[in-house]
Amino acid sequence: MKKSIGPKKIKIAVFISGKGSNLKNLIKFSKFKKYPFSIKLIISSSNNAIGLKYSKKYKITKKIINYDKKIKTDKIILQILNQKKIKLICLAGFMKILSNNFIKRFKGKIVNIHPSLLPKYKGLNTHARAIKNKDKFAGCTVHYVTSKLDSGKIILQERVKISKKDTPFSLAKKILKKEHLIYPAAIKKILN
Ligand code: GRF
Repeated sequence: MKKSIGPKKIKIAVFISGKGSNLKNLIKFSKFKKYPFSIKLIISSSNNAIGLKYSKKYKITKKIINYDKKIKTDKIILQILNQKKIKLICLAGFMKILSNNFIKRFKGKIVNIHPSLLPKYKGLNTHARAIKNKDKFAGCTVHYVTSKLDSGKIILQERVKISKKDTPFSLAKKILKKEHLIYPAAIKKILN
């Protein structure tokens, strides 16, 4: 695929808390001409997030936010989002709940990737719950973020088969591969 050279790209912020494999993957896709976005900011809820290493590697501004002081936090983030002219926020393994006020201020411009076939299994431990219920399929969903947890409009979804041998760990691995396909595709879809 061609690398991007010129045309205007939409500026995106990615919010993380952990490993950041989705972040890394989105950075990779952002370099392609066909994908109309560029990652300009990484926000992490934790100092220890492994994904923060991509800030240095790809020279992307990072900001670590203490989510325990919600009102102050919103103000700080909104300020930096404005400064950086961010038009879309992508949550990728971000383990904090955004305030209603913040979601309102960025209405329709926050998306999330969730490791289940929503509306099934909102919240945590999605893989273990799918296995326990003997589901045939599991998967992942990219959706808009609203004030109701994991409930906004679905943008894209991909499923995988659950085999008898699957553990939450093996299933998570299979699903993560699909996440890496649908997240860039979903962003492209909403920006086009
Ligand atoms: C992914 O499974 C994502 O769906 C969930 O948290 C995990 C994050 O993985 N919300 P990574 O940090 O992008 O590697």
